[in-house]
Amino acid sequence: MSFRKLSIRDVPIDRKVILVRTDYNVPLNSDGTIRDDFRIKASLPTLRFALKRGCTVVIISHLGRPKGHQPELSLAPVAERLGDLLSVNVTFVDDCRGDRVKSAVRKSRPGEVLLLENLRFHEGEEANSLDFAKSIVEATGARYLVQDGFGAVHRAHASTSAITNYVPSVAGLLVKKEYLHLTKAIEKPKRPLVAVIGGAKVADKIGILERFIDQADSIIVGGALANTILAAQGVDVGASRIEENQADTVNSILEAVRAKVGPNSVDKFLVLPHDLAVAKSINETAKRRVVRLGEIETDDLALDIGDETITDMIQTIKRAGTVVWNGTLGYAEIEAFAHSSARLALALASQESTISVIGGGDTADFVMKWSNNDRSLFSHVSTGGGASLELLSGKTLPGIESLLNAPK
Ligand code: 3PG
Repeated sequence: MSFRKLSIRDVPIDRKVILVRTDYNVPLNSDGTIRDDFRIKASLPTLRFALKRGCTVVIISHLGRPKGHQPELSLAPVAERLGDLLSVNVTFVDDCRGDRVKSAVRKSRPGEVLLLENLRFHEGEEANSLDFAKSIVEATGARYLVQDGFGAVHRAHASTSAITNYVPSVAGLLVKKEYLHLTKAIEKPKRPLVAVIGGAKVADKIGILERFIDQADSIIVGGALANTILAAQGVDVGASRIEENQADTVNSILEAVRAKVGPNSVDKFLVLPHDLAVAKSINETAKRRVVRLGEIETDDLALDIGDETITDMIQTIKRAGTVVWNGTLGYAEIEAFAHSSARLALALASQESTISVIGGGDTADFVMKWSNNDRSLFSHVSTGGGASLELLSGKTLPGIESLLNAPK
């Protein structure tokens, strides 16, 4: 569970040019403004640390999934917001390599910040191209790469993998903090450890389910994932969204649970909904009805777990020492079907002695909105969707693996 990589604190960065890889893949409004600056704020501790040491900080990031150069996915608005948050001038450079970058770095002074244009405007980024990575390092003349884009470290891209061949690379404060919080919650939790797993696809969640079957004291399942598991067990889920052909996967999950807790305790360990909140359609005005399993109508869509299941879930949460939550439990974009996710967020926010670790992506978006951006209500809210899921599933993350090892 210890972090075996060097971090920005371990290397002599004073007054040097350093590259900081952040994850500024922020949600945008339709007019191109930033909808949520959670990831920008999360990068500030590392940037402040480097600025205090008199570094010239050159930041690289991706935004979205552009096909070539798409001006609407420029990082320019992020430079402005970052400048406001840091209270320093952030110079935006409209490429991430080449002469414009060279000249901007040459003109900069220690203690200045530059943000380079979206890495994914070049295909070399996602192709993990050595040449592309080398060209970034050469243009900036950086002496260190500080990997702080936790949300991107599950990708083997040029800025997370290839680049480490050309410049000594260490972790930033966010990457280290994310790694320690997430791995501690699963490997050395305050018990009982309860995992709450929601979301849509069984295929996406199989890794995390298997790991928690091993590590957790119980697992609560919601979302479309629960509908698929119920359907694979022969429960009628009406017109609910489910994944077809998952019987084998579901059987292997149930087999693993049986092997761990014995056949009589499967339902206690793997808690599936025993009632469901349903509606005839998915929209803001759809009426929430709660039905017991077996009472669902053919045109009903299960969009949340039911009220009795929510009450039982909260009882389990009250007894938990650690709760790891990955995936919203219902159709949480619509208030009528966000009851379970909201009750869970409330329980976690009000139980100070419970360690609450919230996975990134939709779950983080939900709790941040619910709490009006008050992250302090939870022990840890991850900035990484896919990255937190992969780390919790026990996979190695290329963007962390490639960093310099700390001495033993
Ligand atoms: C994320 O938002 O999860 C990260 O920024 C990674 O983005 P990607 O899924 O487009 O690689």
